[in-house]
Amino acid sequence: MNTKLDPWSSSEISDYSKLFDEFGISPFEDVLPEVPNPHKYMRRKVIFGHRDYGQVAKAMRTGAPFSAIDGFMPSGKVHLGHKMVMDQLIWHQEQGADAFFGIADREAFAVRGFSWETCKEIGVEEYVLSLIALGFKPDGLIYFQSECESVKDLAFELGAKVNFSELSAIYGFSGETNLSHMLSVATQAADILQPELEEYGGPKPVVVPVGPDQDPHLRLTRGLAGKMNMFRLEEREDKTGRKYLSVRGKAAPKEALQELKKRIPGKVKLYEEHLDVLEFTDPAGLKSPAGLKSPAGLKSPAGLKKLEEIVRKVALDFGGYAFLPPASTYHRFMSGLQGGKMSSSVPDSHIALTESPKDGAKKVQRAKTGGCVTLEEQKKEGGKPDECSVFELMLFHLIEDDRELLEIREECLSGERMCGSCKKLASELMHDFLKDHQEKRELAREKLDEYGVNYKK
Ligand code: TRP
Ligand code: SF4
Repeated sequence: MNTKLDPWSSSEISDYSKLFDEFGISPFEDVLPEVPNPHKYMRRKVIFGHRDYGQVAKAMRTGAPFSAIDGFMPSGKVHLGHKMVMDQLIWHQEQGADAFFGIADREAFAVRGFSWETCKEIGVEEYVLSLIALGFKPDGLIYFQSECESVKDLAFELGAKVNFSELSAIYGFSGETNLSHMLSVATQAADILQPELEEYGGPKPVVVPVGPDQDPHLRLTRGLAGKMNMFRLEEREDKTGRKYLSVRGKAAPKEALQELKKRIPGKVKLYEEHLDVLEFTDPAGLKSPAGLKSPAGLKSPAGLKKLEEIVRKVALDFGGYAFLPPASTYHRFMSGLQGGKMSSSVPDSHIALTESPKDGAKKVQRAKTGGCVTLEEQKKEGGKPDECSVFELMLFHLIEDDRELLEIREECLSGERMCGSCKKLASELMHDFLKDHQEKRELAREKLDEYGVNYKK
């Protein structure tokens, strides 16, 4: 029952539903109706889980500021798996997010032993060119961890809030783990919190679209977001069982606590390192005892939000942090073209975005399908699209129109559709996609300056 998620070894995940119970990831279906214009991965259940995505969906609906961030360790060839993540980042940018794209060269240096020059070259030649070719807009930020002072500074500060026992519980780190590897973890947390720094407009919902292998980083970062904040809101209970809210600010300046007392409307008691909110007057003028979840407590969610807002504002005014814990989405991984798992070390299992269109098309022709051994049998029994890597390619990448995809699926199931012609269609689409993508990559090379990427071949 112990599913281990390890960001540095691509362990196969056999049962995604375990992640809900074991790690507290929520089913994406629950928030889907709140998303104004869902991405095809959302509609097709490729994205199966999330943490806190509601706040992001809300920002999309209301036009409030929000961000999306992803990072890539520059480790080798950019392939369809990376395209999935890039597509999601770009989609969020189109929906109004400030988008951030970090090249995790610190991680590649620490974990893979790559030189900075190699990281730069792979980072740009593989990942950045494809990101731009796929449609990332220049108002987003592309950066290298090693060149980003605010990320490095924040990483160091975050490091003060996490000790070795926590890292080994989350990542299985041992006495053999090198220090830079641990620092690269703090750096990834800093990547994720960076959009909430003052220079980018302060606290706001941030989403990190990832595969479930990256969830350990999210758990760490969400915890750190809370620990970094000048104030923490806690529900307490007095001797009579009455609930109230306590604003804890151990490291906060005295003046900040006094200011909070001034700004919170209601009955507030100030102590050395905290304040107790015994009664809160919410925006509608309703007074309520300020417990969080108790029936008698702060009943209006708007009231609680207002209180949180006041606390956040004071923290920022006094130079502190007030991070919102980052949200995330989790997508299913594609399987390998030959069945089994997709792996960058098995060339026939994946298609690189830089592969010649002819070779890419050939790989589709050779891919494992869900068809039967003989045509007669397939006509009678139908095929199995859900066990077919060709169908998966269409579902993930090659067919935009849901209706067309559904038709293919139904024709396959009913035995009307044969693998030969189906593969032919998919391999032509793959050929055209690769050709077009590679032309766009060459155009992207000319535009690197516009994106603030400093690189010459
Ligand atoms: N660890 C990620 C990988 O292996 C890279 C990464 C670095 C990242 N910073 C990030 C991913 C921030 C998401 C968000 O590719
Ligand atoms: Fe896959 Fe198409 Fe064959 Fe169905 S007909 S099993 S979708 S290749």
